[in-house]
Amino acid sequence: MKVLVVGGGGREHALVRALARSPQGPELLCAPGNAGIAADARLLEISAEDVDGLVAAVEREGVDFTVVGPEAPLVAGLVDVLAERGHAVFGPHAAAAQLEGSKAFAKEAMREAGVPTARWRDARSLDDGLAAVRDLARAPGEGVVVKADGLAAGKGVTVADSALEAEVALAEVFLHGRFVSSPAARGNERAGDEESSEAPRAVVEERLVGEELSLLALCDGERAVPMAPARDYKRIFDGDRGPNTGGMGSYSPVAGFDSARVREIVAAVHQPVVDLMRARGTPFHGVLYAGLMLTPEGLRVLEFNVRFGDPETQAVLPRLRSDLLELLLAASRPGGLAGAELEWAPEWAVTLVLASAGYPTSSSIGDAISGLERASEGNAGEGHAGVEVTHAGTARADGSVVTAGGRVLNVTALGRDVRSARRAAYAAAGMISFDGMQIRRDIAAGAAEDS
Ligand code: AMP
Ligand code: GLY
Repeated sequence: MKVLVVGGGGREHALVRALARSPQGPELLCAPGNAGIAADARLLEISAEDVDGLVAAVEREGVDFTVVGPEAPLVAGLVDVLAERGHAVFGPHAAAAQLEGSKAFAKEAMREAGVPTARWRDARSLDDGLAAVRDLARAPGEGVVVKADGLAAGKGVTVADSALEAEVALAEVFLHGRFVSSPAARGNERAGDEESSEAPRAVVEERLVGEELSLLALCDGERAVPMAPARDYKRIFDGDRGPNTGGMGSYSPVAGFDSARVREIVAAVHQPVVDLMRARGTPFHGVLYAGLMLTPEGLRVLEFNVRFGDPETQAVLPRLRSDLLELLLAASRPGGLAGAELEWAPEWAVTLVLASAGYPTSSSIGDAISGLERASEGNAGEGHAGVEVTHAGTARADGSVVTAGGRVLNVTALGRDVRSARRAAYAAAGMISFDGMQIRRDIAAGAAEDS
C-alpha cells in the first residue's frame, strides 16, 4: 500500500516512523518532508498547503491512502477534494476542521454539546472586546485570555496578566489586523477572492489556572477512541516563562490519568463533540485533540485541534503497539473504529525539542548540526528502552544536515519509568549540538520528582 504523509515537521516524522512499523509494510511518501524524513520516506517537493499540487501527486503516484499532518491543509479543504475524487484520506473535512480553524466556532460547538470550557465572549469589535475584558476578569484590572479567531500557528493567544495587557492584545487584533486569517486559511479558498481578509474577530475568555493535559482521540465520524494522555510545554524558557511556542517538549503517559479516567474524559469532552458534528451532517473523522486544564472547579477545555499534537505525537506514538496504519484507515471509514482498542507499551516516553537561535520570535537557518548519529544510536545510559531522534526543521546543505526552522529536532527516549526516560532523553540530546541551540532543562522534571 502506498501511503502519503502530508507535512514536514517532527509530528510528521513521528507519523512516518510509526507507519513504517505497520505489519502491512506500506511504501511511504512524504510531502514536503525534511532532511530526516528523507531517510524513512520518499519525499515529494510539494508544500503541505498546496492543495492542487497534493491532489495531482496522489493521482500521479497512485497513492492509496493520504494522512494529513498539519491543520492548514485541513482547514483549506484538502480532505474534501481528495474524498470527492474517491481517494482514501485521514483527517476531517473543512467544515469539521473549523473546530480548530475558528476559536468562536469551537466555543459555540462546546456550548451546544455541553462540554465544559472557560466562560467567554465573542468579540467582533474593539468595543465588544473591551467590554468582555471587564466582564470576564476575576477582579477589576486583572487579566483575561484573548484569542484571535483564525489559525495562527499557536501564536494568536495572549494569556494576559493584566487588563491593560489584554486591551493591547485586542488592539493588535482589531486595530492592526494581527492574526486575521485570509480566506484561504479559513477554508474558503475555492469560494473566491484570496486577497480580501476576514473581518477581525476574537474570543475573550476568563483566565483559568491549573495543570494542562493533552488528550487526543481517534474519531470515525461516530465514536471517539482515546489515545494515551500527554503533557506538553508551551513556553520557551524553564519554569514556564517567556513567550508561547509551538511546544518545547512533552511526555506520556501522565500520572493520575489511567485508562478509566481517560475514558471518562473522552466521554465528557470528545464524544459529545463527535455526536454534535454528526448530527449537523459534518461528521468528524481524524484526530480530535483536546487541550485541557485541570482547574479547582473541574476540567475545562482550552482548545480543540483537529490533528495530532506537536510535540505530543513524538512522545505518544513510540509507545503505540497497535498498527497505526490500520487504525487510521479505520478512522477514515464511517464507524470503522467499532471495537477498536489501542494497545500501549508500559514504558514512559519523554520528548525534548531542540530549537534554533531566536525561536520563537525568529529562527536561525543554515547552522550545521553535529552528533545526530551518536544520539540516535540510543547509547544513553541505563534503564531506557530506546531513543528516537525525529527531525522538525532540518535541511541538507553540502551533504550535511543544517537547521531550517524554529523547532529543529526532537529527541524522544523511552524508559521503564519517567526518570530513566528523562535521563536518557537528556543524555542523547547532550550529544547533539548546533550554534544557538535552545533546550528546556525541566521537561518532565515535575513528573520525575513525583514518581
Ligand atoms: P490555545 O491555543 O487555545 O490552547 O492556547 C494556548 C495556551 O494558552 C494554552 O495551552 C494555555 O497554556 C493557555 N491558555 C489558553 N486558554 C487559557 C485560559 N482560558 N486560561 C489560562 N490559560 C489559557
Ligand atoms: N502541542 C500543541 C499543538 O500541537 O498545538
